[in-house]
Amino acid sequence: MNNNLLILDFGSQYTQLIARRVRELNIYCEIHPYNKIPKKLDTFKAVILSGSPSSVRSDEAPHPDLSEIRGKKPLLAICYGAQYLAQFCGGLVSPSNTREYGRANLSFIKSEDILFKNISEGSQVWMSHSDTIEKLPTNGVLLASTNDVKNASYRIEGESTYALQFHPEVYHSTDGKQLLQNFLVDIAEIKQNWTPDSFVEKTVSSLKKELGNDKVILGLSGGVDSTVTAVLLNKAIGKNLHCIFVNNGLLRKNEFKDVLKQYEGMGLNVKGVDASERFLSALKGITEPEEKRKIIGRVFVEVFDDESKKIENAKWLAQGTIYPDVIESVSVNGGPSVTIKSHHNVGGLPSYMKLKVVEPLRMIFKDEVRRIGTSMGIDKNLLGRHPFPGPGLGIRILGDITADKVCILQDVDYIFINGLKEFGLYDKVWQAGAILLPINSVGVMGDERTYEKVVALRAVESTDGMTADWVNLPYDFLQKISNRIINNVKGVNRVVYDISSKPPATIEWE
Ligand code: XMP
Repeated sequence: MNNNLLILDFGSQYTQLIARRVRELNIYCEIHPYNKIPKKLDTFKAVILSGSPSSVRSDEAPHPDLSEIRGKKPLLAICYGAQYLAQFCGGLVSPSNTREYGRANLSFIKSEDILFKNISEGSQVWMSHSDTIEKLPTNGVLLASTNDVKNASYRIEGESTYALQFHPEVYHSTDGKQLLQNFLVDIAEIKQNWTPDSFVEKTVSSLKKELGNDKVILGLSGGVDSTVTAVLLNKAIGKNLHCIFVNNGLLRKNEFKDVLKQYEGMGLNVKGVDASERFLSALKGITEPEEKRKIIGRVFVEVFDDESKKIENAKWLAQGTIYPDVIESVSVNGGPSVTIKSHHNVGGLPSYMKLKVVEPLRMIFKDEVRRIGTSMGIDKNLLGRHPFPGPGLGIRILGDITADKVCILQDVDYIFINGLKEFGLYDKVWQAGAILLPINSVGVMGDERTYEKVVALRAVESTDGMTADWVNLPYDFLQKISNRIINNVKGVNRVVYDISSKPPATIEWE
């Protein structure tokens, strides 16, 4: 498939954004770190070089050999990429006198260049750099300047090699997407044929080839990624896909039953395994959050292992891994970082299971997973579900976990989530849930003194869970929900609303 774009990542915070914009143009692209340039370059029709937090003048900065790319394929170099390309091809990069950061406006030197098709003089662009290209590379032709930056865009004569000092991928560059389209479609002649339908078609046919008659095991979580993975595999291999959906006793109210029914209705070959008691007894008396997470993770692996052994001759384990996880693990900056919480996911299984791994969504972004799900006809309520952590309510019950506490929290969570749906707020919130606090407070009901549990409600806005803001839910909604909870859930006499953002708080309390 020589219709791909290669994005070489120099470690910029915007690299994923370049990929997102390119995919929005219905063009397939892959991000690879600059120090692992793919050997098979002929599968890529064009290349983009990303920005970087480094300075090209530093010895530690990325300085890959571009000789197999430059002049041989259409190339667009962005920010650091533009500076490095200049330096690599005989130009000069120096520290700039003023740090060039923020909005600027383009002034064309060669307005007729196809790179600027449908873009007007004065178009706003976003700058973010501290070095500047003082001298263009050999055979460099200046295409555009801004007030502060003379060499804002250049090309190399006789080649489809282009460079931009600014960032076309950020929204503040108002014609950035048009500019990327001009490069990709007009200059590099890449076809805009990457759509959810074409993805499904190609993936199903390559899964058929890869898996043949083999049996595949998949852990379903009720979440979007594992569900879309299952439906894709089901299209390819039907009953040879064996899905396992584990009830860890820490799911939402009725979730095990409801989701299992939904899966069966979708024609999936799925086995529900109720391991609630096994999880709850392993968690008995445990209060420390990391210890709880580790126990839930370990028991999950044990249950999954036991169940998969019952499926004879299974050769593959399917996982709902998506592209941001892949990029993170191979990124330029990838490496050990401080563990805030040890996440556990369905599918994160140890190597001793000796199964080959198949991950049909490993090159797909989250919102694309939803588009693919929609194109395969998956119910929109399922695709629009809020994220829910692998350890479930186990990390929303502070202190030790008991079956009674799980019931209380399930009831509270049910009222809150259904209330959000009833008030048309569910789709406006990225994630919501309730937390059972390990304290009692004094209240009065009728003429009686009560001494009962406190629950906290949490609703956040976010794009990826990395940062989050608490949601300004309407007071009358909070008032109604609080009344409903206190009147209907025995054992709760106080409701509070969490108004902390991430950072410094996290989304989950444990
Ligand atoms: P935190 O609490 O770290 O959560 O701000 C960020 C996002 O991750 C979810 N989360 C998890 N998801 N396994 C998961 O699959 C986990 O162990 C886990 N812990 C937190 C959390 O719900 C939020 O969406």
